[in-house]
Amino acid sequence: MNTEPNDQTETGQPVTELRNSSVPSQPQPVGAPDVTPDVTPQPPTPPPATPTVSEPKKGSKKWLLLVLAIVLVAAGAGGALWWHGHKATPKPTAAASTTPTVRIGLSLDTLKELRWAKDRDFMTQRAQAHGASVTTLVAESDDQTQIAQIENLIAQKVDVLIIVPHDAKAVAPTIAEAHKAGIKVIAYDRLILNSDVDTYVSFDSTTVGKYEAENVLNAVPKSVAVPNVMLIGGSPSDNNALLVHAGMMDVLQPLVTAGKAKIVFDQYSADWSPDIAYANVKQYLATGGKVDAIIAANDGTASGVVRALQEKSLAGKIPVSGQDAELPAVQRIVAGTQTVTVYKPIQLLANQAVDIALALAKGQTPPSTGTVNNGQKEVLSYLLKPTAVLANNIKSTVIKDGFLSSKDVYGTH
Ligand code: GAL
Repeated sequence: MNTEPNDQTETGQPVTELRNSSVPSQPQPVGAPDVTPDVTPQPPTPPPATPTVSEPKKGSKKWLLLVLAIVLVAAGAGGALWWHGHKATPKPTAAASTTPTVRIGLSLDTLKELRWAKDRDFMTQRAQAHGASVTTLVAESDDQTQIAQIENLIAQKVDVLIIVPHDAKAVAPTIAEAHKAGIKVIAYDRLILNSDVDTYVSFDSTTVGKYEAENVLNAVPKSVAVPNVMLIGGSPSDNNALLVHAGMMDVLQPLVTAGKAKIVFDQYSADWSPDIAYANVKQYLATGGKVDAIIAANDGTASGVVRALQEKSLAGKIPVSGQDAELPAVQRIVAGTQTVTVYKPIQLLANQAVDIALALAKGQTPPSTGTVNNGQKEVLSYLLKPTAVLANNIKSTVIKDGFLSSKDVYGTH
């Protein structure tokens, strides 16, 4: 036995001991049970007995074959039945699994404008594609109903709330209630003011107002030196209407100051009502009011404006704006009674909102394009850019995106 006293392993054990032990000891993984093998010698096991087999009788062979055939047929039938059953039931994909990974509560102000049903359906599709679900409640433009519906969704223990507020301030208290229940809140399309809302996902509504004003004023005949301009605003309870109005004034104010334009009427329309827009223009014209341009905040109010102009055979002679690229509005642009609508590809917005909801549900910080102050904090925000649609770019915008079909807009492919 050669022993070098200083020759030690990394664990500090002398070499000698190791070499002599009969079975090399394997290092055991921490926490695993003791599995050292048992080596005591065992008596040899006798070989298995070979069974004695007698030749089968002729008749019994036939039986045997018959039984075999029956067994095979039965097995075949059973197999076919099983396969049929197995093929019919779809494989559980993530989306189809019964328990949604994330439950989103969607509180809508209204479905009155055409876009909101699309927003809801796009969000639902996106959520389902990610194994999540969307529960939607619609407040029919009533604040108490919306507050009660949001509290209902909180009581249902949704993971994230997506809210389109009817009134930017009225729903603010529900944000604190949601947070107490550990639920994150996204302000969708419309900002929720004076609240600790988690994130805001929308289009740049100030730019919407700018595009509306610029394209209407561009359409006023150059022969009109100082155009008389009517502003038909959206709902004063909706922060977007204020942003759109601010965008309109960014374009108009310098012209007014320079005496190159005159604002002859400037009013909001509660709940973005087409009837209020109609009544205001009808009233203004009925009192002999002169108008050269009407900057309406969305396609709904624009439809009311055009109805009033038609009654005075002025439709198509006075440029009118709108927003949302609703089918009737794009058809009016083709017909020449509306000048512009501001298109907002809402599928992008809906997808972004759901992706942000899924990130928030996982406790992640969602993507953003900046912040917007809501009177209480700088809200993390994701703002998308809108596009002005006029007669000369309908094909390259709303039709190219598949937002509207050429058949619907032009009646032909
Ligand atoms: C606004 C929205 C517009 C318009 C309007 C009426 O908040 O940004 O797209 O639809 O509501 O619902």
